[in-house]
Amino acid sequence: MFVQLNAVIIDSDDTNRQELAHFLTGFGVNLVGQYATPEPLAALLGRADAPQLVIVNLDPNSQENLKKVGHLPRQFPNISFFAMSQVIDANLLMDAMHLGVKEFIPLPISEDKFAAAIERVAQTYGMGKKARVIHVIPTMGGCGSTTVACNVAASLAQESKTALIDLDLMRGGVAGSFDCRPRYTIADIMASAEKVDKQLLDNALAIHRSSNLAILARPELPEDTQRVNQPGLHRLLNILGRMFDNVVIDSMMSIDPIYTTAIQASDLNVIVMQLNVPSAKNAERFVGAMRRMGIEANKIRIVVNRFVKKGWDIEPSEVERALGLKISWMVPNDFKNAIAAINFGEPVVLRAPKSEMSVSLKGLAQALNSKTLAQAA
Ligand SMILES: Nc1ncnc2c1ncn2[C@@H]1O[C@H](COP(=O)(O)OP(=O)(O)OP(=O)(O)O)[C@@H](O)[C@H]1O
Ligand SMILES: [Mg+2]
Repeated sequence: MFVQLNAVIIDSDDTNRQELAHFLTGFGVNLVGQYATPEPLAALLGRADAPQLVIVNLDPNSQENLKKVGHLPRQFPNISFFAMSQVIDANLLMDAMHLGVKEFIPLPISEDKFAAAIERVAQTYGMGKKARVIHVIPTMGGCGSTTVACNVAASLAQESKTALIDLDLMRGGVAGSFDCRPRYTIADIMASAEKVDKQLLDNALAIHRSSNLAILARPELPEDTQRVNQPGLHRLLNILGRMFDNVVIDSMMSIDPIYTTAIQASDLNVIVMQLNVPSAKNAERFVGAMRRMGIEANKIRIVVNRFVKKGWDIEPSEVERALGLKISWMVPNDFKNAIAAINFGEPVVLRAPKSEMSVSLKGLAQALNSKTLAQAA
């Protein structure tokens, strides 16, 4: 199975070429070559392991360069060709299209449009993004975000291909919650500069036997947390997003670059809170920050954990008013089952599937997977 789209870049300008390479790599595309001129292309494209995507910057002599590569799209119909140019001339565009160029990208590049074009190519080769990315964020220590993330992931894994990533890099307890000790962790997949090594990724994703969940653990050594970086996480999420149906992240409340990347890459940001003042205050601050980041309300969910029918500090309706969002779900308090699950190293939905807490968590997983869950007020 391919995990990455392979691409080659032709661009006579060194700086452009590097910028484009950086962008593609961040998008999870593997660069198999970068050249200043098109001459090496013919040999490369004739190989069995030819890249699926060729990107040619036609500048500065756009017509002339188009002539040099123009025969290739017809010669290699299974390869997608993109042409780029600052010259947006109707004749050039028509010529490019007649020659079989798939996309014409005007320069300077519009990142969104370029990303969408790459996504279309990835889909052609069965490598499109399919995962729903669910980012679980705690509002205070011990409010239950790891419990929510692990149980939602274990529930989803029973129906579709699911990965769970531990982004609580220093203290994370995801692997422990499933009683597994992977040999490799998220820090190890950051190391390779460009290509994500398929074998390394397979080794780092520990498969939990009874649920079939793929787990990517936090680094074993605290020092290795420093190896986890924003470009690496961005690339990883793009790759996992093409391999799995669901990607669940047990995260932290932070706007450091790696967490901002997770927030922006996620389809749903799930804020886990308890009905008390510190938790509600943190939820309010963070929802505010996400909104200023441009995250729309329909990508945010509020989940109350450890709900008890009597004796909360603040009314649910008060929380909803302060956040300007509906509470999407309430998970009941069940100390006995929750602690037994942690001690045993098996999430409660697997260990005590009929308990009230499990039924609620399974319901939450279903709800997060559908479009009907309560959204913005
Ligand atoms: N619904 C619940 N009812 C009772 N206890 C719960 C519930 N959810 C979680 N707990 C317990 O609360 C404790 C903290 O849970 P968990 O580790 O999931 O929280 P967290 O937000 O990830 O905390 P941390 O700040 O350590 O990351 C655990 O002992 C867990 O068993
Ligand atoms: Mg946690």
